[in-house]
Amino acid sequence: MAEQPREQWATRAGFLLAAIGSAVGLGNIWRFPAIAYENGGGAFLLPYLIALLSAGIPLLIMEYAIGRKYRLSPPAALRRMARPAEAIGWWQVAISFVIATYYAVIIAWAVRYVGFSIGRQWGDDPEAFLFGEFLRAPEAPSFLDGYVPGVFWPLIIVWAVVLFVLAFGIRRGIERANKIFIPLLFVLFAALVVRALTLDGAATGLDALFSPNWSELGNGSVWVAAYGQIFFSLSIGFGIMVTYASYLGRRADLTGSAMVAGFANSSFELLAGIGVFATLGYLATASGVGVEDVAGAGIGLAFVAFPAVISEMPLGALFGVLFFSSLVIAGLSSLISIVQVVVSAVQDRTGMRRVPAVLGIGGLVALVSVLLFPTESGIYLLDASDHFINQYGIALAALVGLVVIVWVLRQLPSLQRDADATSAIRLGHWWRICLGVITPLVLGWMMVDSLRSEFEENYEGYSTGFLLSAGWSVAIGALLVGCILTLMPWPAGGEDIDLDMESPADRKDR
Ligand code: ALA
Repeated sequence: MAEQPREQWATRAGFLLAAIGSAVGLGNIWRFPAIAYENGGGAFLLPYLIALLSAGIPLLIMEYAIGRKYRLSPPAALRRMARPAEAIGWWQVAISFVIATYYAVIIAWAVRYVGFSIGRQWGDDPEAFLFGEFLRAPEAPSFLDGYVPGVFWPLIIVWAVVLFVLAFGIRRGIERANKIFIPLLFVLFAALVVRALTLDGAATGLDALFSPNWSELGNGSVWVAAYGQIFFSLSIGFGIMVTYASYLGRRADLTGSAMVAGFANSSFELLAGIGVFATLGYLATASGVGVEDVAGAGIGLAFVAFPAVISEMPLGALFGVLFFSSLVIAGLSSLISIVQVVVSAVQDRTGMRRVPAVLGIGGLVALVSVLLFPTESGIYLLDASDHFINQYGIALAALVGLVVIVWVLRQLPSLQRDADATSAIRLGHWWRICLGVITPLVLGWMMVDSLRSEFEENYEGYSTGFLLSAGWSVAIGALLVGCILTLMPWPAGGEDIDLDMESPADRKDR
């Protein structure tokens, strides 16, 4: 099969925008504020910062270095390091597959809520509207239940946009889309935060978010939450950054780019925290209750508390459109990167061309998403898969990947030389200590801690049967699929890609 030169980002800014677009997502706007609030408020910022510096940025640099060195997606790059390590790459691809199927659904809800905001269609009870009228969720999950057209149609639109962008490839698709998405997101979100800060009661909300509860720092689960948030939020541990960096030129600066992407993501996260809590402060003041009574986590925060605010405030419809459009844009740029992991892994292994790969493989992810989630029990399935794939997918794959790369294959010195060769910032011993000792220890602790709570009490009180079929099977299934895909006889194509092959842009670079 004729080899196709690997695509490449047109500019460093293009790559950075795409990396930031992948990092800034649903995790920043709605997950971070709730996690920070529940885990010590202002005091959470300390473990969060330590997690960013000790695990987030070092891992980001490592993933960039692997991607640029091998110029291949995770399975093929890891196979180059050692054949059996390919399984870790496919495991990450399977994790990305699962995440993409439900991540798209939350974006589809946000699409609907842009429209609902205009007429404030949730009436007086946003919670009853969300779970009853809109999602039609039963009291407890079941398997054979009805389809929800109100979610199905926006979901189709989300997938059409994602596959359309991916079909145009790295430069003309992903890079261009992010050049539009990220500045637009920034403008929309900045307008939202300014409006939020001028609301009555904004200071009460910020007080609630930032008042430090220092005693929480002695609580192990607060540290686990900080590391978990950094992993999900920076898009590390699911193969995205290896994939994006595999389209870099040989001379691209890795360490500097990782610092920019890492700090940009965290700045956006803080901005989101400020915007969301200023808004909740307003709602609490207007309703005469405490912030703790209006702040719900996750879905509740975005799709229940915000509609309540929108109903309450002057020019609420505009505020709603800003908020839900921001969620849609942030979500789309992240979803594009998650699906690209799956598409590019199959392309690298088979030599398949881009458009058939996007339609075939990306189309398969879309099909699974569209078949499973716009159902009445879809929200329960989403909740369980999200919890289990985060805890026993992303974090566990990151732990296994680190141990194998650092301790078994001893790749860090060569990756460090590679990164240092093109960066003004040199990686010192701290980089190896963070990746070789601190992060594996924290991740190991995270695993033990969350497994313990899993066996103490069923997640969210769901039945064991449901958790086995919608949670554990998803997490264990991703691992098994990773192993099966490694053992599968693939058609010739990707395996023999010339490692030193340069694209014309690369030659121009030198
Ligand atoms: N990093 C993406 C997010 O925060 C996946 O949502």
